[in-house]
Amino acid sequence: MSDQRDQIVVRVRKLSKSYDGLSNVLDNISFDVGKGETFVVIGPSGAGKTTLLRLIDLLEYPTSGRLNFSGQDTTQLDNYDRLKLRRRIGMVFQTTILFSTNVYSNVAYGLRLRDRSEDDEPKSVSRALKTVGLQNLEERYAKTLSGGEAQRVAIARILAYGPELLLLDEPTQHLDIGRQLEMVDLIRSLSRRGIAILATMHDLTLIDGAFSSVWLLSPGDTMRKGTLEDMLQPELLERAFKYPPRYRSMLEDRIRGRKERVL
Ligand SMILES: Nc1ncnc2c1ncn2[C@@H]1O[C@H](COP(=O)(O)OP(=O)(O)OP(=O)(O)O)[C@@H](O)[C@H]1O
Ligand SMILES: [Mg+2]
Repeated sequence: MSDQRDQIVVRVRKLSKSYDGLSNVLDNISFDVGKGETFVVIGPSGAGKTTLLRLIDLLEYPTSGRLNFSGQDTTQLDNYDRLKLRRRIGMVFQTTILFSTNVYSNVAYGLRLRDRSEDDEPKSVSRALKTVGLQNLEERYAKTLSGGEAQRVAIARILAYGPELLLLDEPTQHLDIGRQLEMVDLIRSLSRRGIAILATMHDLTLIDGAFSSVWLLSPGDTMRKGTLEDMLQPELLERAFKYPPRYRSMLEDRIRGRKERVL
């Protein structure tokens, strides 16, 4: 059996990030993400959810603290070694970025960047597109895709090379309800394959059952970790999302209604 430490994909200790040197966007955050674990970060706009994902994707440097990926302390690495580690991570950004070429080349890009065998490329591309439900779109010019399709191509590009860690920043925001549910299903099936997933999501209704843990980020507070049930506390949400107490009964109704799938 492998050592428990081999199963930790990301280890974060006392991580803080400040952009202006005066106040911390993220303050003293610690957590581990294990192989196949799925975590979702919730919190008000501006709480630092994207910042957290960008730090883990090694696009930003923390102001203090430690961030280990696969046992390596990333804060000690030079740019070349950080780039090498980044190639084992996949991040889908809040705003999808696709190249002005067809869907096939967009998906193949991640494989080419990693010098994967050209012989296997067509198979890897079509398998990844099938996983996200976009088979037969290979020849389509990527800029003509709908927002939801573009987002799924961005995910296929990552799945084609097989990351150890998938970072999804608001993966459901451009999707209709059917595609949202498919996305949640996709997250479940990817985690069963052993990919660790860290997502951010605004819609709490989609979190149910798809994530092993929910983290609540709220400015001026420590990050809370728990189940969705732990987070659905009106007082806690009121404080975190800073909405007026007059909405309390409305939220209580929605939390009660959630049990009947109304939220
Ligand atoms: N490069 C930057 N320079 C300066 N400030 C930044 C930078 N990036 C983010 N910030 C600030 O850091 C804070 C956290 O931003 P972040 O994008 O992480 O929030 P978020 O929780 O993802 O919000 P949303 O839910 O709206 O996506 C915000 O106040 C933002 O303006
Ligand atoms: Mg964000």
